[in-house]
Amino acid sequence: MSRSRTPAARDHRFAVWIGTTAALLVAAVAAGFVWLPARQAEGAGGPALWDVICSAIGLPVRHPQAAVEAGVSASNVAWTAATRQLLSEGKAARGAVLAAATCNNCHGANGVGTDAIFPNLAGQSQAAIYKQLEDFRSGRRDAAVMGGYVSGLSPQDVRDLAAHYASLPDPFAGAGGGAGTSADAVARRLVEVGDPLRGIAACAACHGPLAFTPGAPGLRGQQRAYLEVQLQALASGRRHNDISAQMRSVARQLTGQEISALAAYYASPGVKGDR
Ligand code: HEC
Ligand code: HEC
Repeated sequence: MSRSRTPAARDHRFAVWIGTTAALLVAAVAAGFVWLPARQAEGAGGPALWDVICSAIGLPVRHPQAAVEAGVSASNVAWTAATRQLLSEGKAARGAVLAAATCNNCHGANGVGTDAIFPNLAGQSQAAIYKQLEDFRSGRRDAAVMGGYVSGLSPQDVRDLAAHYASLPDPFAGAGGGAGTSADAVARRLVEVGDPLRGIAACAACHGPLAFTPGAPGLRGQQRAYLEVQLQALASGRRHNDISAQMRSVARQLTGQEISALAAYYASPGVKGDR
């Protein structure tokens, strides 16, 4: 009789074991996949769970806020086949006439800014010019200066102006590279290899010459002051029209010193008002 009680007691303990393990499993799944994500959604802006795990084990982390902002539409422009078709319909000659009326006062008849805060547009990517003009028009990019000049443009005007500036020869296409200072070495490293531990991809992988992301402007020979102001604005989020926060997530990781080193590296020493 006593022998028959032992297996029964063992069965009971076994059932308790299984029950406890199953309950723990359910609780862990609920906490990890339901409760934590829900809490995270409430406190939007906090670091994503995955990022926390990555940073704990020393892997590169995207900027925590990039994931949040990636879901928000930054621009009305999308790089679809239809957009490319529209771009191909730009007429440079008509754009030149439009540019002469107003734009050239600041961006120069040859597409070189007449002051260091006016970006050079000569030889700039047509897609990049188009996108920025559309973003100024829709208010996705702060248009305190540009707004008055773009509000009256028709969609065809925008395409023609983009075609015009893209067609101008860029006198500074080969510029950049700095003067060999230690700041230039810092910048060159970021440009050519980035900083994987901080999640910074090489600038050259999106802005050329390694590869080109649609809509990423050419940077070589751009005005130094303009580059610096834009990098700061993207870092602080004051400028937020980059699709999927591609550029903000890079700019936020940069120190102030790196921003000025990069601006100096890419800038052309010869641009008017540059130094
Ligand atoms: C009063 C000076 C002024 C005039 C006129 C002007 N712009 Fe601008 N433009 C600027 C400034 C300054 C910026 C930099 C953005 C800012 O500070 O708002 C800019 C930015 C741009 C950019 C973005 C460049 C980049 O690399 O992102 C484009 C494209 C542009 N302007 C095209 C034009 C066109 C086309 C016209 C004429 C319809 C025009 N601008 C008229 C001053 C001017
Ligand atoms: C993942 C791709 C990517 C990487 C890496 C990247 N950029 Fe960008 N960058 C972009 C895109 C796309 C834009 C255009 C944003 C928009 O649509 O307004 C941009 C815009 C910019 C602008 C504004 C230019 C203008 O004419 O207004 C600057 C300056 C800039 N990037 C500098 C850098 C520097 C410096 C690095 C390296 C430290 C870098 N970028 C790395 C994709 C990238």
